[in-house]
Amino acid sequence: MSSGRALPLNSAAGASGQRLLRYTLAERVNHWIATLSYIYLLLTGLAFWSPYLFWLVIFSGGGPTARFWHPWVGLLFTASVLYMYALWRGDMLLTPADLVWRRSLLNYIRNEDENLPPVGRFNMGQKQFFWLMLGGGILLALSGFGLWFADALPWSLRYLRYLAIFLHVVFALATIGGFIIHVYMGTAVVRGGFTSIIRGEVSAGWARLHHRLWYDQVTGGSPRKK
Ligand code: HEM
Repeated sequence: MSSGRALPLNSAAGASGQRLLRYTLAERVNHWIATLSYIYLLLTGLAFWSPYLFWLVIFSGGGPTARFWHPWVGLLFTASVLYMYALWRGDMLLTPADLVWRRSLLNYIRNEDENLPPVGRFNMGQKQFFWLMLGGGILLALSGFGLWFADALPWSLRYLRYLAIFLHVVFALATIGGFIIHVYMGTAVVRGGFTSIIRGEVSAGWARLHHRLWYDQVTGGSPRKK
């Protein structure tokens, strides 16, 4: 079930042409802090990872500047995903409706949303991405501390350094995979989603088509139309 946190409506939402508030200002600002910090981490992290990609530091003020800021921006990213958790945890739990929705994944991939079973505020793919970024953000921070303060580790615990490097790379690659899919879905596939994370609003029709149960929840279950 969704958290049941009904977002305020801009107006009588059931009527056609009306707008629903999908993301509050705090949710949007936090989302873009997470985005900007993640992109900075991506560019600088790739630059540290491979000599072939070191040229990417030209976007972050050069090598020493990137090395100084990378861990601090990492903390900002982790703080933003933790705040995301505080904002969205109730809406991100898997529900029986998500499991039914998963069986129609092929329709989702083909962009045939009208043939998908109804879902709440977020669908299962969105929820999985959220948990990936939350878990990834925490584990990147923990392994990052191991790299940041590597010199503080006694030599007898040196294997922890290797573990930290390994885990940092693994979680970075896992989140990069999710990030690429998320950006593609949010910009090229689900039309109307991108405006919602900028302006906060969606049309009642968009909500009914993509998130029927959430639409019913925030409108009080107005008559359904396709
Ligand atoms: C350029 C980068 C990004 C773009 C274009 C983008 C786009 C979007 C869009 C359009 C939505 C609204 C989707 C909807 O309601 O249907 C959204 C939601 C969301 N974004 Fe992003 N995003 C970006 C980066 C990130 C990053 C780095 C994170 C890391 C935590 C993130 C986490 C989320 C989450 C958890 C949601 C809510 C669930 C979902 O739609 O997946 N986004 N984003």
